[in-house]
Amino acid sequence: MQPPRAPRPLWLWLWLALGLGLAPPPAALARTSWWHTAVIYHVYPLSFLDSNGDGVGDLNGVIQKLPYVADLGVDALRLAPVFRRGMHGCPEAGVVDFRAVAPVLGTADDMERLLRRAREFGLRVILDIEPNHSSRDHEWFQKSVKRVAPFTDLYVWRNGKANSSNNNGIPDPPNNWLSVHGGSAWEWNSERQQFYLHQFGVDHPDFNYRHYKVIEEMKDILTFWLEKGVAGFAMKDVSFLLEDNQFHDERELYDRNNSSTDYSSLTHVYTHDVNDTYSLVETWKQLLETFAHKTDRVSRLLMIEADPDHIMNYYGPSISQTGGANFPINSFFVAQLTNESNAMDYSEAVHHWHVYMHDGRWPNWMLGSPDISRVASRISPYLVDGLNMLLMLLPGTALSYSGEEIGMTDTEMLNFNKSRCFKHCHLQPHNWHQIISKYSSRTPFQWDSSTSAGFSTNMSTWLPVNRNYRSVNLHLQRAASNSHYRVFRRLVAMRQEATIRKGQLAMHALSDFVLSFSRSLQDKDTFVTIINFGANTVEVNLKPYNLPKIVLVHTASVNSRYRMSDRVHSKKIELQPYSSVVVTTGKAYEYQYPNGVSSVHFEFTIHLLNSLFTLSLLVIFF
Ligand SMILES: *[C@@H]1O[C@H](CO)[C@@H](O)[C@H](O)[C@H]1NC(C)=O
Ligand SMILES: *[C@@H]1O[C@H](CO)[C@@H](O)[C@H](O)[C@H]1NC(C)=O
Ligand SMILES: *[C@@H]1O[C@H](CO)[C@@H](O)[C@H](O)[C@H]1NC(C)=O
Ligand SMILES: *[C@@H]1O[C@H](CO)[C@@H](O)[C@H](O)[C@H]1NC(C)=O
Ligand SMILES: *[C@@H]1O[C@H](CO)[C@@H](O)[C@H](O)[C@H]1NC(C)=O
Ligand SMILES: *[C@@H]1O[C@H](CO)[C@@H](O)[C@H](O)[C@H]1NC(C)=O
Ligand SMILES: *[C@@H]1O[C@H](CO)[C@@H](O)[C@H](O)[C@H]1NC(C)=O
Ligand SMILES: *[C@@H]1O[C@H](CO)[C@@H](O)[C@H](O)[C@H]1NC(C)=O
Repeated sequence: MQPPRAPRPLWLWLWLALGLGLAPPPAALARTSWWHTAVIYHVYPLSFLDSNGDGVGDLNGVIQKLPYVADLGVDALRLAPVFRRGMHGCPEAGVVDFRAVAPVLGTADDMERLLRRAREFGLRVILDIEPNHSSRDHEWFQKSVKRVAPFTDLYVWRNGKANSSNNNGIPDPPNNWLSVHGGSAWEWNSERQQFYLHQFGVDHPDFNYRHYKVIEEMKDILTFWLEKGVAGFAMKDVSFLLEDNQFHDERELYDRNNSSTDYSSLTHVYTHDVNDTYSLVETWKQLLETFAHKTDRVSRLLMIEADPDHIMNYYGPSISQTGGANFPINSFFVAQLTNESNAMDYSEAVHHWHVYMHDGRWPNWMLGSPDISRVASRISPYLVDGLNMLLMLLPGTALSYSGEEIGMTDTEMLNFNKSRCFKHCHLQPHNWHQIISKYSSRTPFQWDSSTSAGFSTNMSTWLPVNRNYRSVNLHLQRAASNSHYRVFRRLVAMRQEATIRKGQLAMHALSDFVLSFSRSLQDKDTFVTIINFGANTVEVNLKPYNLPKIVLVHTASVNSRYRMSDRVHSKKIELQPYSSVVVTTGKAYEYQYPNGVSSVHFEFTIHLLNSLFTLSLLVIFF
């Protein structure tokens, strides 16, 4: 899956070069729902907190940390898949029961308690669901092989083309489709005398998502969780759910010799993001809407994770504002930006989403997830605050991955070769490292400097704790007057400002390395964010924004020279390497945000310090 490289039309270049403002953001939206302005905090439950000392995170651990999550000020908790898996809970195995919780994480009661407690803290819960390809050992598949009704057509079965002379009487596959792992996507079943489709491994036959029983099953699962109080779903990897029902051959991308079975040699127009997938997604959203309508009329959220190529189609048909999902998860920051990206690349990633997004639909931004390298490692540990500013202050839903608020980094997995969670996975030594490297952003949350970073009382944890936990942990960052955690929390709180909720966006790359953008709303204070992606100190002139001569620092990155409420000359702002700052035309000391939803972790000292600080400012000003 290549990073998207959409063609760049001339006008886009012009737009970028001139740094013109964007169209008014979707403020014009007739009805706003809670998720429009929400921050969604993604938690990987196996690595959040271990409540019973077995070295593995669990749902009770998540419950224990709900006060922390609520205090961050985020609106929703998104749980990475919690369902019961095959192979004795191997995290690499497929889900076997979407209505049951993995025993290693807890019980059905724990899950209900989590949902109840979250509600008490004002947090909504969103579940990740990977609509799965089933296992070959699955009872449904076994019955399907034997053509037992109603299982006969639950999988994609096809006759072969013709007998080839040299293949023991086995016919040729129905068409040229290839498996993601290479080789034909079709496997001959001698008992049924037909081929079954497997877009992934031969052990994972694809469900026939055109069959009403498969469709109903997924709808039942969604309803099951909605009734338990879940506020929405993130459907993962939907690109592969359906295939062309005419089973056309796919076009070859380049002249390949006849033995080549490389997945990238075909255009996947008939197996990837086929049109009917968007209708399937729409039926899910309709189910959520109907449920909301029948109950409390609070909208439920449907997010779709799909490959970037056709991602906008998941917003639904372009003209209408219905259809599709609420939004496809925006992977542009993840797919398009690297440690080598400059201000123009960032500006372009933001513009691209707005330009290709259908009118009247809602943007969203994602910096990290358990499936990708952590932003501090992928981009730079020095840019953590600046990137969080981008995530939180652009118009749209913000998707943040737990741990990014303290700048956690990827964990080296080289010497990690044993774990009870992987015991049942039967991973071969040769692919162990390849598989385990996927987990480098999923290691335990770093709460403090104690045993196993405060994640577990057990010295041995299911994944290794990052060795930097004594210097990178929440406890230290809460104690410090200035830290990634404090910046993050302030940015989340800023989203209560009307300007950030519905103000206009204008973005300018002021040089190769300096990105800036403003949020403004009539009769309200303007906020301008400036990020220096370069290794040199720069002097920035905010002329394009028509600001008063003197502006105040609202929030500054940890590595910035500035502190809150510093007065700066809007045409002469000096930014240290990789530092960032939000300035405002308002009076910075007025932005003392309330302390989140709950005050369980109310920090008296800091609050007191802030009040003293405010007092001293008042003295200076008057
Ligand atoms: C650590 O976890 C393992 C596996 O669950 C368990 O056998 C062991 O007793 C635990 N150690 C402590 C000190 O709790
Ligand atoms: C896949 O999903 C189906 C339908 O919910 C389920 O019954 C099955 O057990 C799942 N997992 C596997 C590995 O087949
Ligand atoms: C393939 O050949 C076998 C035996 O030669 C025959 O029984 C079978 O019907 C043939 N299948 C097709 C699809 O031609
Ligand atoms: C590929 O197959 C075609 C038709 O079967 C044949 O004409 C051609 O020579 C083959 N090419 C190679 C490189 O094997
Ligand atoms: C096909 O191409 C691969 C690599 O390009 C080469 O190694 C192989 O020998 C080729 N096979 C045939 C049958 O031409
Ligand atoms: C998918 O739908 C679009 C728009 O309706 C249409 O242009 C396109 O041909 C369709 N693609 C396929 C493979 O049917
Ligand atoms: C970016 O990362 C790559 C490898 O991950 C490294 O080789 C390269 O030097 C880095 N570039 C910068 C500018 O840090
Ligand atoms: C795997 O672990 C064992 C002990 O647990 C150790 O002796 C061995 O060196 C490790 N191997 C690798 C490749 O890290």
